[in-house]
Amino acid sequence: MRSSHAYLPVTAGQFSMSRNLILAFDTASETIALAVANDEGASFKLIDHHDEAAPRRANVCLLPRIDALFRKNGLSAEDIGCVVCGRGPGSFTGVRIGVATAKGLASGLRVPLYGVSTLDAVAWGVWKSGFRGLLGVVADAMRGEVYPVLFRVTDTAPERLECDTVAKAESAARRWAQAVDEPLALAGDGIHKYRTVFEKEFETSCRLTFCEDSLWVPTGESLLYAFERERARKECATGDPGALLPVYTRLSDAEENERIRLGTTGQVIQGALVNAAVPASGVVCDGDGAQETHPQNDLTLRPLSLHDLNHIVTIEREVFRDEAWTLGMFEDELLRTDRTWWVACKGSQIVGYCGGWVVDGELQILDVAVISEFRRCGIAQELIRRVVHDGADLGARSVTLEVRADNASARKLYEKLRFEVEGIRPNYYPAVGGLKGEGIFREDGTPARREDAVIMRGPVEPTETTGVLDASGLGTLAGMELKDNACRVDAGMVKERSVQAYPMQGQSPPGQPKREGRTGEGKNRPLILAIESSCDETAAAIIDGRGTLLADVIASQVDFHARFGGVVPEIASRKHTEAIVGVVDETLIRGGRELGVSSLEWGDLDALAVTFAPGLVGALVVGLAFAKGVSWATGLPLVGVNHLEGHIYANKFASSVSSDDAAAEPIEPPLVVALLSGGHTMLVHVKDWGDYEILGQTLDDAVGEAFDKVAKALGLGYPGGPVISKLAEQGRSDAIDFPRAMMHSGDFRFSLSGLKTAVITYIKRENEAGRTINTADLAASFQQAVIDVQVAKAVQAVEQTGVHTFCLGGGVAANPALRVAYCKAMDERGTRVVLPPLSACTDNAGMIAAVALDRLAQGKVLSLDADAYSHLPIDQEY
Ligand code: KG4
Ligand code: ZN
Repeated sequence: MRSSHAYLPVTAGQFSMSRNLILAFDTASETIALAVANDEGASFKLIDHHDEAAPRRANVCLLPRIDALFRKNGLSAEDIGCVVCGRGPGSFTGVRIGVATAKGLASGLRVPLYGVSTLDAVAWGVWKSGFRGLLGVVADAMRGEVYPVLFRVTDTAPERLECDTVAKAESAARRWAQAVDEPLALAGDGIHKYRTVFEKEFETSCRLTFCEDSLWVPTGESLLYAFERERARKECATGDPGALLPVYTRLSDAEENERIRLGTTGQVIQGALVNAAVPASGVVCDGDGAQETHPQNDLTLRPLSLHDLNHIVTIEREVFRDEAWTLGMFEDELLRTDRTWWVACKGSQIVGYCGGWVVDGELQILDVAVISEFRRCGIAQELIRRVVHDGADLGARSVTLEVRADNASARKLYEKLRFEVEGIRPNYYPAVGGLKGEGIFREDGTPARREDAVIMRGPVEPTETTGVLDASGLGTLAGMELKDNACRVDAGMVKERSVQAYPMQGQSPPGQPKREGRTGEGKNRPLILAIESSCDETAAAIIDGRGTLLADVIASQVDFHARFGGVVPEIASRKHTEAIVGVVDETLIRGGRELGVSSLEWGDLDALAVTFAPGLVGALVVGLAFAKGVSWATGLPLVGVNHLEGHIYANKFASSVSSDDAAAEPIEPPLVVALLSGGHTMLVHVKDWGDYEILGQTLDDAVGEAFDKVAKALGLGYPGGPVISKLAEQGRSDAIDFPRAMMHSGDFRFSLSGLKTAVITYIKRENEAGRTINTADLAASFQQAVIDVQVAKAVQAVEQTGVHTFCLGGGVAANPALRVAYCKAMDERGTRVVLPPLSACTDNAGMIAAVALDRLAQGKVLSLDADAYSHLPIDQEY
């Protein structure tokens, strides 16, 4: 993982007069298309290109290939005048790696970034080959789907006849076979899988030919043609690297609404934003994003919780009679993360509900019910609309449902929502009736005859957007609030380190002349900008050589995940792509202000750092690709950091709570740290910085996860930790006796799934008995069960290792009762407790920067082919 790579000696911030190179690339398909050209105003002159099949390897291959292309041609990054990047549509991760890399390059070089359509580029390749006539480009969208676009290729250009959509290969083929009455040629990587599908549909209609397979993917050169055309049409966006977005063939308009609701400034949406699935209505979101109210008729929609189940089951029985789902079935649904259930209320009365399941990119509506006196007022429609939005966010691209063949009113509703009949399931329903449940029965009560189910399919808003976000606004960014986290600058906690001691790997060290005059004296060196994107926070921070944070900025996506009761990887990755440039720019500005300049420039820094593991890979790659792009562009070395090590280092920002004089002392290993987050629960023996031994960890759920699941069961939203701990303040911790699993196991393993189940069983039991649950008592008792085990094992760990200091890390470290309990128990034994400040507990980039200081001093830097990893044990050296 160490660098064997030389960085191009580029002097960032010192713009050369000869910035006339265009760098273009695309990683939306399974190839890397790459070219560099001389910009000649209205046209370009190709210098060199490199096109290579690199399935799922864009992250490791793209920058090394760019670097090699530049070296081969004796070019310098500082001569790049603009960057052009394929925006897809195509593989989500591939597109995001390309876009994030391009954003890093353009930001690093401070040059404009332009996006072009990957499908347009394919069409330009076909144009260049001499083909003229009607061309269909079908790119592979996976899961049986394609991105189909028709072009009319003339002598001057391929003219696009359709906008981007996603469709089942069969229906795309059928649509074209019906619409086209002249010979059609096909190109695109979808042909690999769907050649016969298209051949079959065209058997009886027009002549179908296939372009030579080298023309199925974009090339570096075809990207340049597409760019030249768009530039001539003046259709290029502003060139702001923060504004470029991938082509989203599906963008939930729930997210769009939220983005608008949260007041994104200066937002420009070019092109149509069509919500094909469900027409927009007068529904607005209220403040917490997890509830909707309908202003006209006081209808409220909120996520289903365990509290509601008794009411739901009663309605279910009234509506569906002997087909009704049971309580157990609903309970089972509720805790699954691939499900979404909503209830509709009039005042406090539940009047309907709807649920869906996302499987294989398809949302299946499982159940819709509205009590009889509230039918025909659009409630079912609102519920479906809400579930469909969630389905889109969970990755669904179409919706299916089943309806009785003769349920005319329901079918009419679905047709209004643009559902089409896809098939019939004969004799599916046991009873017959106008509405489900209003069955026609024989005298003896048995169903008169069985009835067919009609399967209907509807679209999940296939959209094409070239959304341009104002990434420079200070208040919000891509719908997220930008937070300044820098309230814990505490230089004394980190030992001063020598300034020169950060040797670089590789042949040519970054030749940055340090501008001491601008950004402080040598003792403040090195200045490192760190990026964190492993989960649902996009964060950046700048640290100086004394360990002082000059800036610490976070854009939290939590609002976007809240309604799902957990982090949705697809949303996380998308949001990071949208936010990264703005977060980093804001960090540079804030860091600059600390040092008396309006903004730091890249040349003022000494290094970059980024979290590369562990976490959600789709989220990590965005930060990593961006950071690598900036690193190559600026010549700054890039330090890779293990996220968990960041949580350990967060303690360096702490003030000791056990005694006053200890507060002045920086913490030093050996020590024991408890890492408690949404994904981890472990006790670690820190023998030295960088030398860790895992004493034990959870066998199942993490502590944060248990808090989150209990909160979800109570309908309290996400993240659960803060809500539960707040509620617990008003409750009695001895009210309910929950199990303390493995408390006396004599080792350092934990198990939390039993506790979670016990809490849920308790809620169910009380619901069934018709008793009201005292949620404060429940929260306090649950929390106490967690605390007792954690504290007991932490004390054991301190005793066994013989250390004198105990630390805490991870999101759960923000729990006040837990902090107090550790302090009390450790104080009794004379063990010093050091706790990170609250702002350093949950994910942030300050802690990543702190690790980077040490790693940079040891010369541990990443190479251009570095990858992201979902797992990386803390005791594994890297
Ligand atoms: O470290 P973090 O920000 O992200 C991960 O790496 O997982 O931790 C987030 C977790 C969530 O599960 C959240 O519920 C939990 O930390 N958390 C808390 C509290 N604040 C956040 N758990 C208990 N009490 C809290 N006050
Ligand atoms: Zn974390």
